[in-house]
Amino acid sequence: MIKVVQTTGPGGIDVLEFASVELGTPASGEVLLRQTAIGVNLIDLYHRTATEGQYAIPHPAVLGVEAAGVIETVGPDVSGFEPGDRAAYCMVRGAYAQKRLIPAARLVKLPDFISDEQAAACLVKGITAYYLLHRIYPVGPGDTLLVHAAAGGVGQMLCQWAKHLGAIVIGTVGSHDKMPIAAAAGCGHVILHNQGDFSAQVKALTAGRGVDVAYDSIGKDTFSGSLDCLRPLGVMVSYGQASGAVPPFDIGVLAQKGSVFLAKPTLATFVQDPAEFRQLADQVFQAIRRGAIRVDAGHRRGLSDAASVHADLESRKPLGSVVLVP
Ligand SMILES: NC(=O)c1ccc[n+]([C@@H]2O[C@H](COP(=O)([O-])OP(=O)(O)OC[C@H]3O[C@@H](n4cnc5c(N)ncnc54)[C@H](OP(=O)(O)O)[C@@H]3O)[C@@H](O)[C@H]2O)c1
Repeated sequence: MIKVVQTTGPGGIDVLEFASVELGTPASGEVLLRQTAIGVNLIDLYHRTATEGQYAIPHPAVLGVEAAGVIETVGPDVSGFEPGDRAAYCMVRGAYAQKRLIPAARLVKLPDFISDEQAAACLVKGITAYYLLHRIYPVGPGDTLLVHAAAGGVGQMLCQWAKHLGAIVIGTVGSHDKMPIAAAAGCGHVILHNQGDFSAQVKALTAGRGVDVAYDSIGKDTFSGSLDCLRPLGVMVSYGQASGAVPPFDIGVLAQKGSVFLAKPTLATFVQDPAEFRQLADQVFQAIRRGAIRVDAGHRRGLSDAASVHADLESRKPLGSVVLVP
């Protein structure tokens, strides 16, 4: 028997139970991973609460989409992995568990210079930051970016990496206490997205020009204002919806705002292919190694504390990257 955190149905944190379940043996292509560190992401909360739409999942369900650990057993037809290898994965639901079965194709081996806790804290957030800065729009020296929720998990990595690339980052936060966190992550300017007109402040900070790219993870509350922050032909990247989904809108608005581009990317697309996933993970590991991003899994909690971590995320506490240790 192993311990897992699973839902009893969709809902609030009270649907999370710390339960004992049987774990089978690895099927063809699978390994049994003993997990030593589990990443917590906002998507876990969406999976817990959604009753319809893209995040709705069948319940009961073991939540969590990323973790690191050590391979205990290897099933038939697995090549490239052996018992004792340290490995990690992301975007494979079922992570809130002491051990799990997982297709070897979804794993990346961990280099010696990355700890298990760093790996569990950096794959979802770091690969997201990487593809946003390199694939959606190739950010370079002198580009000016708007990054919402700049003190959050993805936000801090995005800002650090953007600064390393030579960009000027305007970060937004939802409260005064998060301003120093965003500044320490590399924001040249930090403003509040929920007081006054943030787009007017962004226009003023860019001498009326607007930003080259707006990274918006807040969604409903900020989408329209973010479009107003763009320079002509700028790029709006809507990659999250912490405040709710963006309502349907008339695409003619994109022309009115200056022939701007709109991207709605999701990490799952970028990590579907095993070789591509390993390449992207390596980009993140190398960025940590050369100091472009810092990953300190400063907030470490027990697996049985998952519900209180969810409550902290819901109350928007500045946690950065959190890992659960089984
Ligand atoms: N598309 C992708 O590939 C992808 C991949 C990973 C993550 N994401 C998205 O990126 C975002 C950041 O994820 P994360 O795990 O690093 O979380 P996070 O940024 O640490 O937490 C979310 C933050 O959103 C802000 N926020 C604004 N309005 C909110 C509201 N009504 N309720 C809750 N939070 C609100 C809060 O910061 P303030 O208090 O500063 O406003 C909060 O701390 C999420 O939207 C997530 O879904 C997208």
